[in-house]
Amino acid sequence: MMTRTMIKLFLASTAALLIAGCERPPIAVSQTGFRGTAMQQVYNPRTLATQASLNKAPAVADAIVDVPGTPRAGAIYQNVQVLGDLSVGEFARTMSAITEWVAPQQGCNYCHIAGNFADDSVYTKVVARKMLQMTQKINSGWKTHVAETGVTCYTCHRGNNIPKEIWFAPAPQKSAGGNLGNDAGQNHPAKASGLSSLPYDPFTPYFLDSKPIRVNGKEALAMTGTAANRSSIKQTEFTYATMMHWSTALGVNCTYCHNTQAFAAWGANATPQRATAWYGIRMARELNNEYMVPITNVFPAYRLGPTGDVAKANCATCHQGAYKPLYGAAMAKHYPALYAPVKAPDAVPAVAAVPVADAATVVPAAGRVEVSAK
Ligand code: HEC
Ligand code: HEC
Ligand code: HEC
Ligand code: HEC
Repeated sequence: MMTRTMIKLFLASTAALLIAGCERPPIAVSQTGFRGTAMQQVYNPRTLATQASLNKAPAVADAIVDVPGTPRAGAIYQNVQVLGDLSVGEFARTMSAITEWVAPQQGCNYCHIAGNFADDSVYTKVVARKMLQMTQKINSGWKTHVAETGVTCYTCHRGNNIPKEIWFAPAPQKSAGGNLGNDAGQNHPAKASGLSSLPYDPFTPYFLDSKPIRVNGKEALAMTGTAANRSSIKQTEFTYATMMHWSTALGVNCTYCHNTQAFAAWGANATPQRATAWYGIRMARELNNEYMVPITNVFPAYRLGPTGDVAKANCATCHQGAYKPLYGAAMAKHYPALYAPVKAPDAVPAVAAVPVADAATVVPAAGRVEVSAK
């Protein structure tokens, strides 16, 4: 028989267990929009304080005056394939900056054989050359997402050889209890999906493949053999899993981008940030497919994932918990090496590139989405 005290103790400890998952008040709330129809962002000020200290931008090295007519790096050095147009001074400044951003402990020899800087036999140098091209593409070709803020190697690496936030395709998991059957990649709580029972790989379908991030179908449900509407609860769960990542990567609630009465809506029923994010997923997909996957074989096997794939980027690789990486510190503009030689932007998707199902509603422009009537 339980005594009264035992019951009290039992209730108190159960209550403690129940609230252990909650965050301690005070919680800050900020409102966006008009009273009545506004949405709210909920912040934990203590998390924000930690975040702020983790997202400080490093100092920028003093600029070097480029005197016209002085020799270019491409003419002085033997094996410069990407940075040939820089002055020799700017080239050296770039080398010391990337050393600080990526290999501050190891120094130049992380990528070079001492005494022969032209040699390409250290794999990290080959990777770094591709990274330079990738960074140039981000800054010059994806202004629709990174604006004038841009990125440097530091945005992802933060002084680490390997960025803190990367992803691999997870090894296939057995269903609970080893049962046969297809569990659609669910019920194996993973950090990537907020430790929920949602699919444990919310990345491959969207950050590598371009599966639609959708819940509603706009046509009648598919009959066997017809291609029309593939929307299903299963697809919805993948959509929610990836959205969990977007929110945690940026340290924001769903309401940062959506009006929660109409998740699918654009225009006045969404925030400008939703349009920025629309470009963000397309940019991340391109970085993985055009820059990371092609150098898979350059990496030693121990750098690859459980299924032999290369490490890839997602929203967190750059954002690391901040709504803008490094809270919007614009470092890239100080480094000409990180911009591609001027050419017409080629990555802005034309309206025709918007999936047919969206064409009636989405006309994305940088930071702005317009609604057009059907
Ligand atoms: C993270 C990798 C990395 C680090 C660290 C690094 N470099 Fe480099 N370095 C490269 C890459 C990549 C190239 C080739 C650039 C190109 O093809 O445009 C290069 C080229 C060079 C060259 C031209 C050699 C030639 O003749 O072709 C010199 C000189 C050089 N680096 C000096 C340095 C110095 C000095 C340091 C340390 C302060 C350093 N690098 C640190 C990646 C790195
Ligand atoms: C969008 C994010 C991003 C940016 C920007 C970026 N990198 Fe990387 N970098 C990665 C990822 C992802 C990897 C793969 C990590 C792995 O090997 O596990 C990587 C790997 C590397 C490696 C190999 C490290 C190793 O030990 O295997 C080097 C070297 C490197 N990057 C240099 C650079 C340089 C130099 C720049 C700037 C010109 C740069 N990166 C910019 C994401 C980025
Ligand atoms: C940083 C902005 C951003 C955040 C934060 C965000 N979303 Fe999204 N969401 C988008 C964008 C952009 C799309 C459309 C992606 C595309 O079409 O490629 C989308 C699509 C969706 C859809 C599919 C709508 C349809 O058309 O069927 C749902 C549902 C959704 N989000 C729910 C959520 C939930 C729930 C959260 C919070 C856990 C969330 N989102 C957080 C930007 C965001
Ligand atoms: C290559 C690095 C990089 C990656 C990857 C990346 N972002 Fe960004 N993002 C940036 C930069 C830089 C900015 C700042 C642009 C500016 O100053 O307006 C930014 C800005 C944003 C903003 C606007 C914030 C605001 O308040 O205006 C949103 C929303 C956003 N990113 C969402 C995403 C989402 C969602 C993903 C993944 C699907 C993603 N980003 C992936 C670099 C990145």
